[in-house]
Amino acid sequence: MLKTFYITTPIYYVNDVPHIGHAYTTIAADVLARYHRQWGHDVFFLTGLDEHGQKVQQAAEKAGIAPQAHCDKLAPRFQELWKRLNISNNAFIRTTDPKHKAYVQKTLKALYDKDLIYRADYTGWYCTFDERFWTEKDVVHGLCPDCKRPVERLSESNYFFRMSQYQDRLITYIEDHPDFIQPQSRSNEVLGFLRKSLEDLSISRPKSRLAWGIELPFDSNYVTYVWFDALVNYISALDYLAPKPSFKKYWATHSTEAAGDRTVMHLVGKDILTTHAVYWSTILMALGHALPTTLFAHGWWTVEGEKMSKSRGNVVDPNAVVDEFVVDAFRYFLLREVPFGQDGDFSKDAMIGRINSELANDLGNLLNRSLTMIEQFAGGIIPERGEDSELEGALRKKIGESMAVSKVRLEKLEFNKSLEAIWELIQHANQYIDKSAPWKPVKNSADKQKLDNVLHHIAQVLRALCFRLYPFIPQAAEEISRQLGLKLNLSDFTKLKPRDDIGWSPFLAGTRIAKGKPLFPRIDTAKTQGDTSVTQDQQPASPPTDQITIDEFRKVSLRVGKVLAAERVPKSTKLLKLQVDIGTEQRQIVAGIAMKYAPEDMIGKRVIIVANMKPAKLMGVESQGMVLAAGEEEVSALLTTIEDVPPGSKIK
Ligand code: MSP
Repeated sequence: MLKTFYITTPIYYVNDVPHIGHAYTTIAADVLARYHRQWGHDVFFLTGLDEHGQKVQQAAEKAGIAPQAHCDKLAPRFQELWKRLNISNNAFIRTTDPKHKAYVQKTLKALYDKDLIYRADYTGWYCTFDERFWTEKDVVHGLCPDCKRPVERLSESNYFFRMSQYQDRLITYIEDHPDFIQPQSRSNEVLGFLRKSLEDLSISRPKSRLAWGIELPFDSNYVTYVWFDALVNYISALDYLAPKPSFKKYWATHSTEAAGDRTVMHLVGKDILTTHAVYWSTILMALGHALPTTLFAHGWWTVEGEKMSKSRGNVVDPNAVVDEFVVDAFRYFLLREVPFGQDGDFSKDAMIGRINSELANDLGNLLNRSLTMIEQFAGGIIPERGEDSELEGALRKKIGESMAVSKVRLEKLEFNKSLEAIWELIQHANQYIDKSAPWKPVKNSADKQKLDNVLHHIAQVLRALCFRLYPFIPQAAEEISRQLGLKLNLSDFTKLKPRDDIGWSPFLAGTRIAKGKPLFPRIDTAKTQGDTSVTQDQQPASPPTDQITIDEFRKVSLRVGKVLAAERVPKSTKLLKLQVDIGTEQRQIVAGIAMKYAPEDMIGKRVIIVANMKPAKLMGVESQGMVLAAGEEEVSALLTTIEDVPPGSKIK
């Protein structure tokens, strides 16, 4: 049976400048949408804009233009950002769409005809900023409990939705469906709210106070309150934005017997949980519709430890982040940094840390070193699977585990944990390369088969990674697939050939790779350190006390060497053991360069060595010389010659 997934983000206030919070929900929804499409499911992914209300009206007045023109001017800011972030939404709703307006009016009329909407005089505390009334018990010291701005006492005749009559039904529903509101703690929070008294909901505003809204079909002196108009977008969109019969096709849940194949997921921020869990659920009950399958309330981002706000001037513009880093790094960071239900802190340092260590180092290096080895040792063609050592069994097990665990976690919206499971495979594969040391000299056909097997296995890992990484970082996944020389359809597993599995393909051997640029270049953090050292350089130089004579210099025998083989020194993160041809003989030299260079990067390289160094043992391994490198505490570069001179050439 074809499964359908209806995935929504909130519809954002058109008047807001798009920020990291908007990007967060939308990227998370995009990951889910891409993931479910991979299984061939029919996904309808909706996002859009909430365009009515007092703030839009006031901003338009200030700009001296009509509210509609104001909305038309602002809407592209969101639409263009979604394109830059690679958001694959199927539809984009705007609440000023005439068809949305007509749908809202139809809905209001249906509820009014059933006597579920009535008119009454109401006196309450009104918050102009949030455009809503609060009751006496909500208001704390004369301030709005939400935005903390002063509220005013207001008496008004308005229309009310009989929300209170659904109180018990909603409590029972939430108790019976523990997965409806997620994370679990939020479900308890809503139950706590509901168990207090539930009042009816004011759904109108007099036109005299607010003109920019949808007119009530039964009283032209009123427009509907923004929260009614906005919430109804989730079903109005299905009426006119997708091919029909879209409501029947996408909207149904566990409350309906036949709905096991349909899933409805609303992703929202924690601040708008009540409006969704209570207002929206009761509106749906009144309309006779099922409730969504999942309502997930995610956490909020602070910036460098501070609440993000216009007045603080610390609102993070996703466009600027994408300009500075690549879009996939932004997508990765947001979903990897914190569990989806919890608050997180955005900082450039944290983002650079993850880019350098996880994207450039773990993933980027795996791709780069794997393809370099396939080029160097197999002529750029993925070899046949060869003879196994005990390492391959463990690697294949890890591929299976990582594919399965990351899938289950993604389906539970545990994005960060899903990525963790993927990264465990990446790290395992890097260690597998280190342990198998495919750069060791090949002496016979058994060695060759082992080497081929290692290269084959790492190509399989990279292929599997493409599929799992695709929902999170689609561009990078496509690029890995391209560099592997594969034409994978990453957006749909159902297009795989028979016998092909996402974790393993019997058709890989013989593929010509197309190694390209590094996937995620490291971000250079030395710039700021560089600035500091400029200041140091400007200090008066100390008198030279360490000069040597030419004869003293000549005591050091410097030679050009060519690296024949390289491997890591066991249990050391810093040391590589090199076999170096110095013309007259072969030397074993241990060098502290493993943090900067992988063993396979060293093969064939020309290095400068101190040939008359007294032999020494490093981590129990004899070193017969020293390799010259530049750098302070860490090695930043190895010394070599510009021309290709024979091994043993003297440096003078
Ligand atoms: N228009 C309403 C939603 C109607 S849905 C039927 C609205 N719009 S909004 O533009 O204010 O967007 C709010 C969304 O952005 C919410 O989901 C909110 O949680 C999210 N965020 C706003 N600031 C945020 C952070 N600092 N961090 C994460 N998300 C945040 O409310």
